[in-house]
Amino acid sequence: MNVSVVGTGYVGLVSAVCLAEKGHQVICVDVDEAKVDQINQGISPIYEDGLDSLLEKNVGVRVLATTDLRRAVLDSDLSLIAVGTPFDGNEIDLKYVRIVSEQVGLILKEKSSYHVVVMKSTVVPGTTEEVMVPILEKASGKLVGRDFGVGMNPEFLREGEAIQDFLYPDRIVLGGVDKRSVDALAALYEGFPGVDLIRTNTKTAEMIKYSSNSLLATLISFSNEIGNLCAKVGVDVVDAMHGVHLDRRLSPILATGERVYPSSLTYLAAGCGFGGSCFPKDVKALIAYGKQVGSPMELLQAVIDINSAQPQRMLDLVKEQYPNLDGVKVAVLGMAFKPGTDDIRESPSLPVTDILVSEGALVSAFDPIARHEAEGRFGSAVRFSDDLEGAIEGADAILVMTRWKQFERLPELVAGMAKAPLVVDGRRMLAKDSVPRYRGIGLAPDASLSVIDR
Ligand code: UDX
Repeated sequence: MNVSVVGTGYVGLVSAVCLAEKGHQVICVDVDEAKVDQINQGISPIYEDGLDSLLEKNVGVRVLATTDLRRAVLDSDLSLIAVGTPFDGNEIDLKYVRIVSEQVGLILKEKSSYHVVVMKSTVVPGTTEEVMVPILEKASGKLVGRDFGVGMNPEFLREGEAIQDFLYPDRIVLGGVDKRSVDALAALYEGFPGVDLIRTNTKTAEMIKYSSNSLLATLISFSNEIGNLCAKVGVDVVDAMHGVHLDRRLSPILATGERVYPSSLTYLAAGCGFGGSCFPKDVKALIAYGKQVGSPMELLQAVIDINSAQPQRMLDLVKEQYPNLDGVKVAVLGMAFKPGTDDIRESPSLPVTDILVSEGALVSAFDPIARHEAEGRFGSAVRFSDDLEGAIEGADAILVMTRWKQFERLPELVAGMAKAPLVVDGRRMLAKDSVPRYRGIGLAPDASLSVIDR
């Protein structure tokens, strides 16, 4: 199939490269010329494991980037719209969706063959048919269903695992205004045998995406709430959630026969909170949507409230021992919202670092990948180190904010320090007896032993 992908952000670029890998001819469209040039040279503008090599393999063969939307739409059978939908505090901003819909509509006016326009961006239920379709019809002077098709095909990929998630999805949701549009989408995914396909309308497709992200975010805030209770009553949340997690309904068995573990893979790991470009924004957008249609989302509001308070718990643990942070040397480990990415959007490290700096702490930081992004955010207020050793040197307190594998070396490094620092584990990734002064989210100082030897 000939496909155009409009917008070369995370979802757009990964989709484009993976669809090319599946044998489609893909044209990427972006207004940013520098990005287009980079893609055409086989260089990915975003950091994502495996993306560079897949792009390099397909560029010039089955992937081409351009700023010329008109040529891309005229030369393809189907367009995936993957432009950004930023959340402005009240609702998602559909500015880019509207602009692109209008431009695509004008091109459809001069296109004689059938074309399907597919929403790939995450949008609240109803958006594709209530916002995109009228714009397309007005600009093209044509009728949806008769002259062109419209679909909604949400993307469930995780940053850091985007390529694997796209190529081996749990399910593919094909939403469409009519059977012909859904059939066109099904043809796009022909190369995914054995994967559950859900054929549905566009509004349900939109709802599936928001509900999925909201449920996962709810599991995390649930675990954090339990963790906060554990910390008060002498229980370790890691032990508590381990027991919960082994319920077969919460612990899928993989095709290999292994049980999914640890609980971070099932979103039951308590920690300093979820971040990223999806969970915070999508949950807030669904809350706003519920309010707008008269169906308040009370549970999801609590999910957000718990998550917003979680970074402060890291600071509370530091302040138990350093009530006045002025002049206290604090090392913040991990700026990315999760490992495997350079994305710092909504990362719990941001509010934690802001507060540390504002209260006069001397903050050093290390992130294996996201240094550049974080330096841009904090400037000279934070001393960024090239390595873990440099960041923790002379620290009074160390905060583990991201579950980077590199931080597993911490106990060994701390053992070599002249004065043992306080280690506050925001991801519960270190053993609690691995350093002399350990505190963790969801762990009381006097937490009883997890294993009772008789
Ligand atoms: C998420 C969804 O997983 C994906 O399906 C959707 O398409 C986009 O949003 P992503 O934002 O890339 O993907 O990250 P994910 O791996 O899901 O982690 C989100 C956040 O939750 C991270 O900050 C992570 O640290 C946190 N998290 C995750 C926890 O705090 N506890 C957990 O148990 C799991």
